[in-house]
Amino acid sequence: MLSAVLLNMPSTQLPTLEHLSTAIMLLDEQSRIAYLNPAAEHLFAVSRSNLAGHPLQHAFSHTEQLFSAMQSALSSHASHIEHDMLLSTHTLDHKLHLSCTVTPIHLDNSALLLEFHTIDRPLKLAREEQMHDQTQANRLLLRNLAHEIKNPLGGIRGAAQLLEQELEKPALREYTQVVIQEADRLRSLMEKLLVPQQAPHFSALNIHEVLERVRSVVLAELPEGLIIQRDYDLSLPELEGDKEQLIQVALNIVRNAAQAMKGNGTIILRTRISRQVTLLKKRHRLALSVQITDNGPGIPTHLRDKIFYPLVSGRADGHGLGLTLAQDFVSQHQGSIEFESEPGRTCFTLLLPLTHLEKRK
Ligand SMILES: Nc1ncnc2c1ncn2[C@@H]1O[C@H](COP(=O)(O)OP(=O)(O)OP(=O)(O)O)[C@@H](O)[C@H]1O
Ligand SMILES: [Mg+2]
Repeated sequence: MLSAVLLNMPSTQLPTLEHLSTAIMLLDEQSRIAYLNPAAEHLFAVSRSNLAGHPLQHAFSHTEQLFSAMQSALSSHASHIEHDMLLSTHTLDHKLHLSCTVTPIHLDNSALLLEFHTIDRPLKLAREEQMHDQTQANRLLLRNLAHEIKNPLGGIRGAAQLLEQELEKPALREYTQVVIQEADRLRSLMEKLLVPQQAPHFSALNIHEVLERVRSVVLAELPEGLIIQRDYDLSLPELEGDKEQLIQVALNIVRNAAQAMKGNGTIILRTRISRQVTLLKKRHRLALSVQITDNGPGIPTHLRDKIFYPLVSGRADGHGLGLTLAQDFVSQHQGSIEFESEPGRTCFTLLLPLTHLEKRK
């Protein structure tokens, strides 16, 4: 029987399933988990050795939709596709939105093959591409605008200084000082806008050194009430990247989190390896995943669609440039940046491909 053969096979002898990017799970006649491929381990953040031989409830909570798809496949002796399935695992703190195909492996027993696809994938790719285009357009617009504004600012400031020297009433200097200070403020904003012009300098770096630097900077800024926990995978390989840029990326995200929580709360810095990720239409075998999670109030709903746009800020003293720069730097590393946010939990995820390891392979 095919099912018996498949289910008794050691995973090393399932080479095709092992390399599929689709998440696959095999269930034996008692609906226990007999096998899952690496794509499924990655999708559900579980390990094969912890699940093999256990019932499905060991991996998932709220299995009603999955069980009814299995029932339907078994009673019709044919594949059943559930297009819109929400599945919670015991390991992930968010629900997965999936399409699931259940196929009986053989007619005379109830072993099943389950295939899972995340259904927001095409949407996600379109969004990433749109974001990349938007970043390029933003960068060009801002650079031109910043140049146009910066040049006359020098003239305005110089004229205000000259005027100040000619003023007879010292009280009037209050006004020229306003002109000078505001010109200086605008100038520093324009200089910030012009930063992305610099070409990145790539070298081998350890992502944990980047995060440790950011952690100590932000803790020094807000020493009381802020906890920054680490959940690092210390076996991660080195990354080929621009260290200063990546520090800016993480610093902007962590600082935003700390500011949103008004310095009181917990931030978790988590690093993991991600396998088989598609970033900007390119498939990468390996990528670093960095998650920065806070337990603050969440990103205001009206800002959620536009926080990566320049000059969009929810803070009275914010420039609205931190995340624009972060996104620009991440895209120079061929990576992606996205977030999930609700009151009590905001999580920014960076994916940075390990391209140098791919070239070597
Ligand atoms: N972790 C977070 N929790 C709540 N709101 C957030 C979080 N991260 C970002 N935001 C919101 O997104 C806005 C945009 O962030 P961004 O870093 O781009 O600009 P800014 O912090 O306002 O200004 P700048 O970083 O240029 O000083 C923030 O003003 C804030 O309203
Ligand atoms: Mg910011």
